[in-house]
Amino acid sequence: MSSSNKPSFLGTLNAIVNGERRGFEFLDAWALKTRNAELSGMLKTVSLREAEHAASFEKRMCELGYGLQEREDPKFKKTMKIVQSDLDDVEKFEKLGIGQKEQEGEDQLLQLLADKSIDPHTAALLGRFIAEERDSGHLLQQAYQCAKGIDPVPEEKATLTDIQEQLAKLTEIVGELQNKPTKKKKPRVSAVK
Ligand SMILES: [Fe+2]
Repeated sequence: MSSSNKPSFLGTLNAIVNGERRGFEFLDAWALKTRNAELSGMLKTVSLREAEHAASFEKRMCELGYGLQEREDPKFKKTMKIVQSDLDDVEKFEKLGIGQKEQEGEDQLLQLLADKSIDPHTAALLGRFIAEERDSGHLLQQAYQCAKGIDPVPEEKATLTDIQEQLAKLTEIVGELQNKPTKKKKPRVSAVK
């Protein structure tokens, strides 16, 4: 494929794959390290989602005719050192800034969905990704409470119906965004926080 046909969103797909791969790696290592079985299960759920997102977006890049460009993250060694250390799980959450507050970066991804040059297949993948990342953010907030010995509120557990509802809402927002001109912003993508 010539560079003139290169999709504008390719860099974002590449950044997602790199970020999600790292997300899988550190959450999986943490799930193996912790002695809290409930916490381990929660971390494992999110880590497997990250791995699946990385594979799905890399597959999409391949289908579009592009290979992945691996990008280093200078902070990642420190992240791995923290999760593999003997620190208390609560301290790990706090040092990594995970499970503390709502995730940032969603607005930029929504702006990207409003890009009219995006194909329906990639847009559908991004929509599902945003909804699942949002749910993973909530799950990590519950995991932090679990590490502190506080039982997560059962009502907050997301069901498939919740995710489908969120996806429907996102589709609505995207529809609205597409109807108004937007400034082009470079999306910032990072692993789940
Ligand atoms: Fe993620």
